[in-house]
Amino acid sequence: MKKSALITGILGQDGPYLAKFLLEKDYKIYGLLRRYSNPSFVNPEYLGIQDQIEYVDGDLTDESSLINVIKSIRPDEVYNLAAQSFVGASWQQAKLTTEVNAVGVLSLLNAVKFFSPTSKFYQASTSEMFGLSNSDGFQDENTPFHPRSPYGISKVYAYWMTVNFRESYNMFTCNGILFNHESPLRGIQFVTRKITDGVAQIKLGLADHIILGNLEPKRDWGFAGDYVEAMYLMLQQDEPDDFVIATGETHSVSEFVEAAFAAVGISNWKQYIKIDPRYKRPAEVPHLRGRVDKARKKLGWKPKVAFEELVKIMVEADIARYTIKKSFG
Ligand code: NAP
Ligand code: GDD
Repeated sequence: MKKSALITGILGQDGPYLAKFLLEKDYKIYGLLRRYSNPSFVNPEYLGIQDQIEYVDGDLTDESSLINVIKSIRPDEVYNLAAQSFVGASWQQAKLTTEVNAVGVLSLLNAVKFFSPTSKFYQASTSEMFGLSNSDGFQDENTPFHPRSPYGISKVYAYWMTVNFRESYNMFTCNGILFNHESPLRGIQFVTRKITDGVAQIKLGLADHIILGNLEPKRDWGFAGDYVEAMYLMLQQDEPDDFVIATGETHSVSEFVEAAFAAVGISNWKQYIKIDPRYKRPAEVPHLRGRVDKARKKLGWKPKVAFEELVKIMVEADIARYTIKKSFG
């Protein structure tokens, strides 16, 4: 019998990478689809897996749709990747962010508990939960949470609910506390993709500057394709647990900008950057850097793609996109 997995957030960045990874392990993949009038399948198409996913209808804010899905497929594994994931928007849409990222997770956990209690459950937790904690050192599984945004707060609720279902009902539920991870499938509003897209346009003569909010925050940036393997590994352990997944390196936004311009041979990058306070956040997370010892030891996981390589992959992918667009007029 093939193993089956339900992936929520299937059309985002991580969903397609995880689906591809599990398809290579011969899983049957169900993807939760919430947009009907105009869904965008570009990300699964980019990875060449669009025809191998069975889409099922549902939305994290609609509990009955989640019950129907879980009841009808009873998957071996549930990966909850769906979220209003853009930190910047979470101040403007704090209630929606809470309904999807916090209450939605409770609804999904309940659906699993009542209709498929042996399904293993992965929750996409985040380094944003650490926020201001240890902002001059490393963060790990023992670091207290100090979230700085409605997004971070919603994810803290979902984290504890995931732990609580494990402790209260003996369910196999895990939190992956993932630090920032990027790829050519990253949404265009996130800073890395905004930069690599801008650099590609500048290199091809389609733009002459990039507008950013703040060059100082530091992030621990890894490659999404590496991180989905850690999600899978967590659900293959004998006991459920929570793990930090990161590279252990941190870089500022300006270092990312510099590396992206260097990838196309431009060294005088400062002249192409404009700062607009519109993109500054009301409360910033200044410094994230994960300590990944537990995952290395227990999961045998480590990142494969290093920072400069990641930046180069993303810049080249954006140049290729514009080059294809141009050649079709
Ligand atoms: P993403 O690209 O923004 O994808 C999120 C997906 O969630 C989208 O496909 C979106 O669907 C779906 N979604 C949003 N609201 C929904 C709802 N009400 N019901 C069902 N689906 C809904 O995010 P990602 O980068 O792949 O991240 C995956 C998960 O990991 C998220 O939970 C994120 O918060 C978390 N995380 C990400 C990172 C990172 O660095 N990428 C780090 C730590 C944690 P549509 O396509 O229809 O809009
Ligand atoms: N988006 C954006 N746009 N960010 C900017 C800009 C800008 O113009 N200028 C500076 N930044 C800074 C942000 O203030 C933040 O400090 C940093 O760049 C990274 O921003 P994002 O790429 O939007 O990601 P994030 O770190 O806020 O959140 C991402 O990572 C989290 C894990 O730590 C998202 O993927 C979250 O869903 C995820 O949980």
